[in-house]
Amino acid sequence: MPASALTQITFHSIAGLRLGVKNPRYVFEFLTFVVFIKPKRGMASITVHDHQFKTYIASKDVQKRVKELAVKITEDHRDDVPLFIAVLNGAFRFASDLMSYYNGEAEITFIRLASYTGTKSSGKVRELASLNTDIKGRRVIILEDIVDTGRTIEHLMEALKIHEPADIKVASLLLKPEAYTGSYPIDYCGFEIPNLFVLGYGLDYDGLGRNLNDIYQINQ
Ligand code: IMP
Ligand code: MG
Repeated sequence: MPASALTQITFHSIAGLRLGVKNPRYVFEFLTFVVFIKPKRGMASITVHDHQFKTYIASKDVQKRVKELAVKITEDHRDDVPLFIAVLNGAFRFASDLMSYYNGEAEITFIRLASYTGTKSSGKVRELASLNTDIKGRRVIILEDIVDTGRTIEHLMEALKIHEPADIKVASLLLKPEAYTGSYPIDYCGFEIPNLFVLGYGLDYDGLGRNLNDIYQINQ
């Protein structure tokens, strides 16, 4: 809609609040404003710490995609009991929903790694809680919230391979292909996204935002 039309409708809408009682035309324009111009529910802009974020992937689309990934992983592991290794903290929601949609026998365990400080990768992967499950001969699927540079996955792959699992695959809800410099394939990827900081659905910005159900992208 051209800016002039928007201004006109906005003006009439405000005017309509006062004149609507006398002139039905203004009532119509006021309703047009409310229905079409008002931001849609869920397409919100939020502030977390010092940054603004806008809705990027709606919760229902996240759920739909997680379900699709779970169906595919179930099909690919029909004759096995795979072991999911979820990377805390970020992957806790993805792991939980994926498990709930997984239609077969599966186990899950957790590892806690960190590589991000604020909105930037620190370049180093710190191991905060290590694996306490025997993975020898198991079909392992790493669950990540997001693969960015790929350092976390690289670190994890090297650490897990020593324990001789039958196979290691990677499932990540999000992937930033422009930032990824790793050599391991991301076997199950929910969404490929641009190289911009995101939060929500487990992903945080300095501790906040994990509880949001939609995924938000930083405003540039
Ligand atoms: P990588 O080691 O560079 O691939 O980074 C992976 C980890 O950094 C993820 O598991 C996240 O915890 C964190 N991370 C990377 N990108 C983002 C982002 O856009 N928002 C929030 N956390 C991120
Ligand atoms: Mg993570």
